[in-house]
Amino acid sequence: MRVFVCKDYEDISGRASEEIAALIREKPTCVLGLATGSTPEGMYRKLCECYQAGELDFSGVRTVNLDEYYPISPENPQSYHSFMNRVLFERVNIRREQTYLPDGMAADANAACLDYERMIRELGGIDLQVLGIGQNGHIGFNEPGESLIPLTHKTALSENTVNANARFFQHMEDVPRYALTMGMKTILSARRILVLANGKSKASAVAAMLSGRVTTSCPASFLNLHDDVTLFCDRDALSAMETSGDKETL
Ligand code: F6R
Repeated sequence: MRVFVCKDYEDISGRASEEIAALIREKPTCVLGLATGSTPEGMYRKLCECYQAGELDFSGVRTVNLDEYYPISPENPQSYHSFMNRVLFERVNIRREQTYLPDGMAADANAACLDYERMIRELGGIDLQVLGIGQNGHIGFNEPGESLIPLTHKTALSENTVNANARFFQHMEDVPRYALTMGMKTILSARRILVLANGKSKASAVAAMLSGRVTTSCPASFLNLHDDVTLFCDRDALSAMETSGDKETL
């Protein structure tokens, strides 16, 4: 895993958006794996700025998102569908029919998950997957536990995740308890992976990810099994480790 220690959140967002912009220029029909949450918001803002400056063309780009709450309607402002519309899809010239998220309204969640896997295969796989990291080390909504599920599946969110997500909702009882998420194999099948992490709240998860051990108690540690992972983080996110400067690990 390549680890880049960035100056601050702006720097993380800038470096991540540059990686994505370079890929779009090199492969205009690339398949981007996208994440929601607060971490990638700055990256999306910078990508929109590039588009507005006439420096990027999204017309051929295909996107697949990591996850969606379940059950939730795409029109619900708290849905990841709405989030992606707000931060990116409504602001650039991407074709909506080329953007995909798990179906939070599916009557049959298992069938929807199988369809999602099939759709990713039919797109030719993910060129670059962007990930945030949960305070408990989750990626997508692959939560710590005794085992992990390889492919897209319905999952119960851990108490830690429900509490972390509560900041986006007015009432605790509105915070979703379930989600549909890509599985660990789905994520690891992406050709390249970018992980973004900032702030002290991510420090113990980042330290566990970089500890050199692979364990289901920190799902992000499975990224050590992939050959092309880049972490952009700030010093706070690394503060549970002793390290400085750009460095190569593992
Ligand atoms: C979001 C996702 C989650 C988040 C993680 C960090 O699509 O899959 O794994 O990346 O919960 O969330 P933030 O960035 O809000 O700290």
